[in-house]
Amino acid sequence: MDAGVPSTTGKFKSEKPHHHLNYHQRLLRLHYFPLSKFLSWSLFAAVILFGLFLISPHSPSALRFSSTTERRSLRGSYSAASWGGFEWEKRVRSSARIRRRPSGLSVLVTGAAGFVGTHASDALRRRGDGVVGIDNFNDYYDPSLKRARQALLSRSGIFLIEGDINDGPLLRKLFDLVAFTHVLHLAAQAGVRYAMLNPGSYVHSNVAGLVSILEAARTANPQPAVVWASSSSVYGLNTGVPFSESHRTDRPASLYAATKKAGEEIAHVYNHIYGLSITGLRFFTVYGPWGRPDMAYFSFTRDILAGKTITIFEGPGGVTVARDFTFIDDIVQGCIASLDTAKKSTGSGGTKQGPAQLRVFNLGNTSPVPVVELVSILERHLKVKAKRKVVKMPRNGDVLFTHANISSARAELGYQPTTNLQTGLKKFVKWYLAYYPSTAGSSVAKKRGGRGSSSS
Ligand SMILES: *[C@@H]1O[C@H](CO)[C@@H](O)[C@H](O)[C@H]1NC(C)=O
Repeated sequence: MDAGVPSTTGKFKSEKPHHHLNYHQRLLRLHYFPLSKFLSWSLFAAVILFGLFLISPHSPSALRFSSTTERRSLRGSYSAASWGGFEWEKRVRSSARIRRRPSGLSVLVTGAAGFVGTHASDALRRRGDGVVGIDNFNDYYDPSLKRARQALLSRSGIFLIEGDINDGPLLRKLFDLVAFTHVLHLAAQAGVRYAMLNPGSYVHSNVAGLVSILEAARTANPQPAVVWASSSSVYGLNTGVPFSESHRTDRPASLYAATKKAGEEIAHVYNHIYGLSITGLRFFTVYGPWGRPDMAYFSFTRDILAGKTITIFEGPGGVTVARDFTFIDDIVQGCIASLDTAKKSTGSGGTKQGPAQLRVFNLGNTSPVPVVELVSILERHLKVKAKRKVVKMPRNGDVLFTHANISSARAELGYQPTTNLQTGLKKFVKWYLAYYPSTAGSSVAKKRGGRGSSSS
């Protein structure tokens, strides 16, 4: 992945013509160019340009005209994205249309082809909310899974734009087209251990990408309320359990966690300066159907079915590693409750008019399960015995234990997780065997698709 270098922002381009003009003005002044001469040269240039325009093979038809000129002025040097045009705008508007009157939302969902993004988009749409998705379909894990999720959303009538959240002009265009009431910002570079291989991608997505989204939101009129995915990993070396929102989060153990923590600070800034209503959600090890192949429960399932040995980590002195596994449906319920309870942003025209809401919630299950128990549950559902190898957990960013205190989410969002790990994994395994039918009952080693497992 080529990350680390954020896409050019609109700022650079808007400065260019300005500078150009000054340069010409200075030239004219310097040489005392006579007006009549200047006018005849201008006329000559205009005739030449018009001639070139006529013989151009891309002479726009009446239908394409507006979109072509618009694209040229907006995108400048952009070449990768293929957005814009009359049909494209129609699809965006139609997808954003609210069917649930009068209280429906119109939501821009980033990372909509991702695990949580797909489920949340679908749930919103089922309620009658307007949803427009955006995703860059990167290859951190098998993009074909993201395409399958896209097909799922498409069947629900959701338009998913292939684009990057760092593409400022694209975001501005979307906010020009649609008065989004909310942004559900889930696009991120996930995974704890991969951060050691590709640190730049974490900065690109989780820091630059977040700023790009918040810039678009604060300049939008009306400003949307923003709900975004932070992470339980911000608790880092915190030892107080269960993890409460008031606990220390200034000792992250991975770059992933550090970029999410940075995001929470950045959210504070945009709330403080621009009056954006922002809610950060600290997800605890989300799992379920259509999940992420880089996560332990997913890769364990793949390897157990393939007859491969799975590696289980243990802490110093044989301490068991445990996670507060949270089922996707419960997380989606928390996301939607956050959107529903979000107060309006107070800014307008990029200026704050009054204090705005700033919240952060743990979304967990409040019952940590040892990873060895996770494996036992998978064995029962898959009806295959796992070949286990237990090794000391390397110091690569993972923490030993997570446990959410969800009393705040319960009180303010009505958040109430209802699915235990047994039930949730049963649903996951059912989906897995249907999605990868060739792996069922086969011990043929499959090619590994992910990049190591993560339990974040
Ligand atoms: C959970 O957090 C709340 C504050 O949100 C606090 O009052 C409560 O004591 C915490 N519970 C535990 C078991 O730490």
